[in-house]
Amino acid sequence: MKLPETDSRSGDFPEVRDGGRAGVSLASLIRNHRVRRNMTQKQLADFATISVRAVRDLESGRVRRPRRETLRLIAEALQLTEPLLAELEKVADVAVPWPPARTGPVAADPPPRTQRIIGRGAETGMLRYLLASGENRLVVVSGLPGTGKTALAVEVAHTLQESAGLTVLWSSSVPGVFEADGADAVAARLGKDPGLLVLDGCRPAELGEDLISTMLRRSPRLRIMVTASHPFPHPAVAFPLAPLPVPGSDGFPEVVASPAVRLLTRRLGLVRPDFTVSEDNCADVAELCRVVDGLPRAVELIGQWLAFYRPGRLLRLLRETPDDCLWSRATGNGVDVLGPIHDSLRLLTEDGRLLLSLLTRLGPQWTVPDVEALWTGPMHRLGGALRDLLLRGVIRTSASGDQLTFALPRLVTLASRGPSGTPRG
Ligand SMILES: Nc1ncnc2c1ncn2[C@@H]1O[C@H](COP(=O)(O)OP(=O)(O)O)[C@@H](O)[C@H]1O
Ligand SMILES: [Mg+2]
Repeated sequence: MKLPETDSRSGDFPEVRDGGRAGVSLASLIRNHRVRRNMTQKQLADFATISVRAVRDLESGRVRRPRRETLRLIAEALQLTEPLLAELEKVADVAVPWPPARTGPVAADPPPRTQRIIGRGAETGMLRYLLASGENRLVVVSGLPGTGKTALAVEVAHTLQESAGLTVLWSSSVPGVFEADGADAVAARLGKDPGLLVLDGCRPAELGEDLISTMLRRSPRLRIMVTASHPFPHPAVAFPLAPLPVPGSDGFPEVVASPAVRLLTRRLGLVRPDFTVSEDNCADVAELCRVVDGLPRAVELIGQWLAFYRPGRLLRLLRETPDDCLWSRATGNGVDVLGPIHDSLRLLTEDGRLLLSLLTRLGPQWTVPDVEALWTGPMHRLGGALRDLLLRGVIRTSASGDQLTFALPRLVTLASRGPSGTPRG
């Protein structure tokens, strides 16, 4: 399933040849990536939540040094891997003004709040509470790719900057960013002042041996907030982040107030301002959010699909051919939901993999005794494996009466199977 062709496509695909890398321009790089993705300028603009004019200005070479944030939005919409993003940034020469070379990339300012965050009041409050006092110096926000860790971290960073007077430094996971001299850069920025460093999208392999410990030692009033799709080896406060709440019923007031539906309609409003949730379509809209577990990245994608399909029809497609809608590696669509989840499942521990394979055999909801009956590994390792999957967002809990039950999100089940092959239809 591909985004349908629209009129705006006509005349939008100039012949592009891949020249040598030397001397390649930002304009041609962006255009090449976009054409390979089979997207129009309008679609790229929509996916990146920037104006069509901004895309045109970049592709025509009128703008040669965009803001780094703009490049990131474009790279995300084009699903560029980190080396390709790094190439884009290099060609655009954005490394000079941001971050300041003097302090090194680990000590950059946090990204601006480009959009108001939806929901997350409780999570923002809790993280603010944990990090403001300085008692907790390392907090790890973990969860499935696309669950909203970065969005939450941006919100928390600004909240702490404004209300707790912390100097906030930000570092996104790009190869080479968590440099060995990061501790120097942070110490130089903070001195003895209180501060927060956000390491966004962190992989332990990129951190170097004891970088976190060294930073915490060198800067006595520093706290660090890490976002990652897996738990972290350091002693830290674990903060697993769930997707956005979905409507519990099909009642109109509950549906329109639900955070997942609000995110969906906001995204859809960018491409179809005339669409409204009504008494007639609210049951389908609610179900659309439920079939993707309220995962923000997937909800946003559905918001884009609704520009082309009626809610009931899209619901059928998502039920019958979910991979076509949600694996962009297979379809070439801009936003990949299942691919990154699939990748993160491949990084599970051996116990985690065993547990996940057993869980896929159980029904939609199960209890710990249900799993104990199936577990073939050493019993003392089951608790650790369950905790590991919970922190990664691979399983989630819900209380049913006085019994604690667990469930596998549907997207995890889909991603664990791998893509079903070439796109249909
Ligand atoms: N609470 C929220 N309100 C508005 N948009 C959100 C929210 N959470 C996530 N998003 C959007 O969903 C997408 C995926 O979120 P992101 O923070 O990148 O996920 P993660 O960092 O966990 O992979 C982004 O486009 C982000 O802006
Ligand atoms: Mg992120």
